[in-house]
Amino acid sequence: AGAAPPVTGSARLAAPSAAPATSAAPATPAAPATPGAAGVGDSYFPNAGNGGYDALHYDLAFDYTPGTRAVEATAVIRAKATQGLSRFNLDFDGPAVKRVTVDGRAAAFRREGQELIVTPSRPLGNGREFRVEVAYSGALKGIHDKALGRYGWLPTSDGAVVMSEPDGARSFFPANDHPGDKASYRVRVTVPKGLTVLASGEPQGPESTRGGRTTSVWTIDEPTASYLLTIAIGKFKVKRSRSKGLLNITAVDAAFADEGGLHARTAQVVDWAGKVFGPYPYSSIGGIVEAAGVGYALETQTRPVYDGGVPSTSLIVHEMAHQWFGNSVSPADWRDIWLNEGFATYAEWLWAEQHGGERAQVRFDRYYAAPDDNKLWHKPLPGDPGRDELFAGSVYTRGAMTVHALRMALGDGDFFTLLKQWTSKHAHGVARTADLLALAEQISGRDLDPLFRSWLYTEGKPSLPEARPSM
Ligand code: ARG
Ligand code: ZN
Repeated sequence: AGAAPPVTGSARLAAPSAAPATSAAPATPAAPATPGAAGVGDSYFPNAGNGGYDALHYDLAFDYTPGTRAVEATAVIRAKATQGLSRFNLDFDGPAVKRVTVDGRAAAFRREGQELIVTPSRPLGNGREFRVEVAYSGALKGIHDKALGRYGWLPTSDGAVVMSEPDGARSFFPANDHPGDKASYRVRVTVPKGLTVLASGEPQGPESTRGGRTTSVWTIDEPTASYLLTIAIGKFKVKRSRSKGLLNITAVDAAFADEGGLHARTAQVVDWAGKVFGPYPYSSIGGIVEAAGVGYALETQTRPVYDGGVPSTSLIVHEMAHQWFGNSVSPADWRDIWLNEGFATYAEWLWAEQHGGERAQVRFDRYYAAPDDNKLWHKPLPGDPGRDELFAGSVYTRGAMTVHALRMALGDGDFFTLLKQWTSKHAHGVARTADLLALAEQISGRDLDPLFRSWLYTEGKPSLPEARPSM
């Protein structure tokens, strides 16, 4: 389900490269059916997502054998045409496709790079809801990117785990793989008996075992971006409880000795975050500790994946803060990544400040004291880091400093109002930097263009914001 294709920021905030407008002439019910676009015009990932339809729900079934990494899978996608469609694309980089049907009828398909191009037996009218089924089988593997590392479907020593940011969903299911098209999910996973399956969202009923294979079903009803769906298969120690109306499920790979308080600390962090950021956007919480070997954690929806051991509380704060900043309010374009990482990093600063640790101002001042030749003041810049620098240090640190600069300019009253209004105004949607600027200006009545421009888009150490004149 989704938003319009990404558009660039407001003209006065124009970052150097402008995303091209993607859609052709407006479709009317009478308009002839034309091919859906192969991408949604993302600034950094031109092939990510697809035009011409809106995915509403994914029903995914995997029968997976870790030893061989072989899968037998079907993906059923319920979608709605947003133009007359003669054909449409899905993003898919997985194994051999056996069959594609649209509304139960065989459809022609071909593969071109990461695109699965489907031609239904008859065109789909604008506004029409349709159901695509893709059956595929073979070995699953992840993506290994020079700049972004390993992501997508990641085999582990006893199973597999999924960490797909930014565009790795295509490694294991056909998707409209862009945060601008969120959908609900149902995931059914069958594995050799003795292994456990976890996923985003909530388990549906107990596991069932037949013929030496165990099936688990998980669903998430809230809008979910494809990069945030996780599945974890392996030997886990699982803890399950209910706290303040939220189901909490944490799982620690059996390779690690202890759960180290992950379960209780996750609940405590979400409780705190709800007071600062507004209501938690989903129905369950948790975390999965894996030996994925990727060297980063990911804020997979409801249940982040932590790599290599039980996370620090600061990392739990970061990943759970993403549930608001990134998961519920998602970047309209990957160029807006600082809206995810800057706020999640700033959440760590706020947690410390409110739990007897360092004040955010002190941390900000320490970073701000970095000399002019420090890489914080040079490219990549947080507002437009470039595709290969999506997760550069400055996106996180200078991103968080930008949030703090905003706090200095607004004062605490307006700043904390801004946090809550941002997460409620754009809940379960997408937003861009210009939307944050507009909301901050509306709340404060100040011109914040110079602050955004210097902190996000300009090389050199920005000047300190003028503190809000107190009355
Ligand atoms: N969003 C993750 C975090 O908060 C980082 C993801 C890195 N992804 C990657 N493909 N390298 O820390
Ligand atoms: Zn992050």
